[in-house]
Amino acid sequence: MSDADSAAALVLITANPRGVPESRDRHHTPVAQTAGFRTRETMRVLPWRYGSENATWAVEEVAAVGLKEGIVTPRLEVRPPTEADRVRFTELFCDDAFMVFSGKLTEEAAHRRFDHMLAMCEVVPFAKQPILERASGVVVGYTGVDYFTVEHEARLEWGYRLVPESRGMGYATEASQALLARAAETFSGELVAMIDPNNHASERVCRKLGFAFLKRVSVEGDVRNLHTLVIGGTAQ
Ligand SMILES: CC(C)(COP(=O)(O)OP(=O)(O)OC[C@H]1O[C@@H](n2cnc3c(N)ncnc32)[C@H](O)[C@@H]1OP(=O)(O)O)[C@@H](O)C(=O)NCCC(=O)NCCS
Repeated sequence: MSDADSAAALVLITANPRGVPESRDRHHTPVAQTAGFRTRETMRVLPWRYGSENATWAVEEVAAVGLKEGIVTPRLEVRPPTEADRVRFTELFCDDAFMVFSGKLTEEAAHRRFDHMLAMCEVVPFAKQPILERASGVVVGYTGVDYFTVEHEARLEWGYRLVPESRGMGYATEASQALLARAAETFSGELVAMIDPNNHASERVCRKLGFAFLKRVSVEGDVRNLHTLVIGGTAQ
């Protein structure tokens, strides 16, 4: 086992900020764990128990690495979400244009999704997080990972989304490249990106980020192009 391998940790959190009942809803479930994270502390390897109700193990919080601060690029800032972002994101999650290729959420689901975003960013420094335009200070979208089950396996899936007026200016690539570099500091392994075959802009961004097409898969009856990217050196 290499140093990189021995640094692998399975991380588990039980964050449930609103005290809502646990469920296996993708954007509701207290977030699980994955191999491949590095922290400064001695690593512990815990069994894979994605979505376990008995999820009470102590956490080797990736945040302990001290990488929770934002990243500044020439035009953008990418930083973990705070409660102050709730109004903006719940509005966006309920907006047809913002949620194109995915489908807008109800207000309740939008709040659950924002809760999930907050919880994920507590433990994964490259979880989906706000993109701000520095010139205006406005949150124009998000980029980062979330857990997603692909062919019965929980994977870290990269995703990005911008408000329509901020598309076509290279923002998704600029923000995602910066956060990917941050990701490679704390994680070794494979990321996936799942893209609607008709979403040419997203396919293009994904390729510019270095993802490679692997195969077509079915996700809840819809066809998606599955892309993969290994970061941080050694795949787990
Ligand atoms: C996908 C999305 C995030 C891209 O953001 P963006 O900031 O416009 O992306 P970038 O400007 O960094 O790159 C877009 C690339 O796609 C290309 N592109 C845009 N529209 C295209 C189209 N219809 N067909 C082919 N290529 C297209 C651009 O030319 C550019 O490539 P280039 O740099 O080689 O010229 C944005 O369009 C969006 O938010 N879409 C709605 C949400 C979404 O689809 N999210 C992804 C879900 S998987």
